[in-house]
Amino acid sequence: DAIELGPYDHYMQKEIHEQPRATADTLEGVIDAGVVPALFGSDAATVFAEVDSVLILASGTSYYAGLVGRQWLESLAGIPCNVELGHEYRYRDSIPNPRQLVVTISQSGETLDTMEALKRAKALGHAHTLSICNVQESALPRASRLVFYTRAGAEIGVASTKAFTTQLCALFILALTLAKQRGRLAADAEAGHLEALRQLPGSVQHALNLEPQIKVWAEQFADKDHALFLGRGLHYPIALEGALKLKEISYIHAEAYPAGELKHGPLALVDDKMPVVVIAPNDSLLEKVKSNMQEVRARGGQLYVFADLDSHFSATDAVHVIRTPRHAGLLSPIIHAIPVQLLAYHAALRKGTDVDKPRNLAKSVTVE
Ligand code: G6P
Repeated sequence: DAIELGPYDHYMQKEIHEQPRATADTLEGVIDAGVVPALFGSDAATVFAEVDSVLILASGTSYYAGLVGRQWLESLAGIPCNVELGHEYRYRDSIPNPRQLVVTISQSGETLDTMEALKRAKALGHAHTLSICNVQESALPRASRLVFYTRAGAEIGVASTKAFTTQLCALFILALTLAKQRGRLAADAEAGHLEALRQLPGSVQHALNLEPQIKVWAEQFADKDHALFLGRGLHYPIALEGALKLKEISYIHAEAYPAGELKHGPLALVDDKMPVVVIAPNDSLLEKVKSNMQEVRARGGQLYVFADLDSHFSATDAVHVIRTPRHAGLLSPIIHAIPVQLLAYHAALRKGTDVDKPRNLAKSVTVE
């Protein structure tokens, strides 16, 4: 391969560790120029002035990025947003809205399901299209009016890592840009968000520094058949991403649920053989998450909790806790993507699977 592994054993490991650089590069434009539509192309100011809602279309990990993006777009920009898997959208009757901004998210820019969904949206009369993509001049950006390139660099590992966190950076910038356009971003709030973005690559590095602790957890996961991932709000998509990473490279069956849904079904699966990973930083939903965790404990489930310093958990024999150094506010899902990637990576290593090329999967899926 043209891209050297350097000191790493796997591309996935290398790509996980490149995330401070990848996020910094992706954020460079906004850090230098501030929140301006031109970050999305020369036409963007005109297009953004016309849009009244957003539809995100994507597949796989990119779809999970979209689920986080929706929450930022609605809370920061106050703009209604839907997120749909490309292969579902393209075959159903939907109500087109010519003022909607159709955003495709794709690492490769070549995923057939996403490309066909974009074609369908255009055929339905959608002209406001934006591609968030990691590969220059690939099919999706070429077919879109606006483009934002993530600057993750080549991603070789089949399981997406740095593409995901840089897509989240792009979506956060989009939410800030639309917020400003719609008169919802005061100058001091903008300055605060830009400062948080400046600190983000450093916080990503702090999350990477948790690797030795996560490795210990991964050893406990390697002989498990199943795992459950829980999160709420901004962190539910991170639970989805954690479960996806674990199943695709370690072949451990993993499912993710929004923690509030536990009592409506998955709680029936919980026993002392079920590790339950909880993404539980100190946000407005923490107390709710804590009561969901008690439901797990009451059934003997083993809790593995990703928290931050302010979450105030005490570890016990059945409650394992790893803390990120500080709460990252709205950017917290980006920080919490890192430990779930590392958990999957080390569980797979322990199981001896082909981390970079998991069975039955492809990096870029250009068939239906
Ligand atoms: C494949 C890859 C995933 C990726 C998905 C979407 O399934 O294995 O890692 O998330 O495609 O790919 P895209 O290039 O559109 O982001």
